[in-house]
Amino acid sequence: ELTYAFRGAHQAGVVTPVQEHLHFAAYDLVEGATREDLIALLQEWTAAAERLTRGQPVTEDGAVGGPLLAPPDDTGETLDLGAHGLTVTFGFGPSLFTGELGRRLGLTDRRPAALNRLPLFAFDLLEEPISDGDLCLQVCAEDPHVAVHAIRNLTRIAFGTAMIRWSQIGFGRTAATTRSQSTPRNLFGFKDGTANVMSDETEALERWVWVPDDAEPAWMAGGTYLVTRKIMMTIENWDRVSLDEQQKIMGRDKKEGAPLSGGGEFTEPDFTHVGADGEPLIPLDSHVRLSHPDANKGQRMLRRSYNFVDGNNPLGQLSAGLFFISFQRDPQQFIDIQNSLKADTLNEYIRHVGSALFAVPGGIRPGEWVGQFLF
Ligand code: HEM
Repeated sequence: ELTYAFRGAHQAGVVTPVQEHLHFAAYDLVEGATREDLIALLQEWTAAAERLTRGQPVTEDGAVGGPLLAPPDDTGETLDLGAHGLTVTFGFGPSLFTGELGRRLGLTDRRPAALNRLPLFAFDLLEEPISDGDLCLQVCAEDPHVAVHAIRNLTRIAFGTAMIRWSQIGFGRTAATTRSQSTPRNLFGFKDGTANVMSDETEALERWVWVPDDAEPAWMAGGTYLVTRKIMMTIENWDRVSLDEQQKIMGRDKKEGAPLSGGGEFTEPDFTHVGADGEPLIPLDSHVRLSHPDANKGQRMLRRSYNFVDGNNPLGQLSAGLFFISFQRDPQQFIDIQNSLKADTLNEYIRHVGSALFAVPGGIRPGEWVGQFLF
């Protein structure tokens, strides 16, 4: 049975080999929820998530071990399934620390300076009900039932303290975090995750993903910042674009994922190469050129996104896209790269409709509960 450790120096679900399925949920605290309520919730969530990670029901009584005349603690639909590589990653949104809520919780002075709502970017068409949130849970697993069961049961535990603001189901990872995983493809048919920060790139992880131990505030030591962007893809329009143009938009070839400057999938792109027509082989407005560290003061991020299809829209088109997830030591890395993508030709085929930023506290060590050092 595939299981990942729940406790450690960092939270699971970041460098963990990307699982195939996602259920991501953002929560808002209910009217009147107190600091004590939030602490109790985080303690209960920690205990339940640790059990789920082992493939166990949320409590010892579970789905069938409790009193016959009470609703069971666990909803039971995964009784026979096991852990399937489940990870639960916890995050705190800017709204938890600000305004009336932040004051009521006594968290105003605990907000990391970097934890602000993301700015509005070019082409953003954000919908408020599917953006932001006070808390988040990123649940990933190799089985969709296991992922949905975890969110369902953790949401039940939150009843009376926090409720779901929005959630997103994702299928098919669009990233790799270890070279032993093949590079998957996104819904545009291109390999995605080739140049990702990998779990064995220790130096790059320290530099671009993990908040250092001496950082401010101290409760973020070993943590990271999580960005989600719900990106709709106008699939039918894309499907009418020639292969040549599709490759020029991405800056990579569709079959191998190799940069248009030549070589194989993992050859570094050479942005100086020009073709017979004098034009750069990797166009100036291609996605890979604009998102590459060379165009972003060397900055990188760890991407862990998923495909989604939410049925179809009223025009009969697929309501589909990329649920983009990235982890970075400082949200500014995402902000800078996203700003650089303003010139990206890909923008003709995508629309960002949801956006959120969460602070992911450091790992949960034995005996601790998530976010303990925040209080
Ligand atoms: C690279 C697709 C949105 C950041 C790539 C690659 C593909 C791709 C196919 C090349 C393979 C790879 O290295 O992973 C897409 C699609 C998007 C999207 C279809 C939207 C629907 C974004 C966004 C960001 C981003 C919003 C960040 C703001 C990156 C980065 C790379 C990359 C940093 C690696 C660049 C490098 O180091 O060479 N993307 N992407 N992408 N993308 Fe995206």
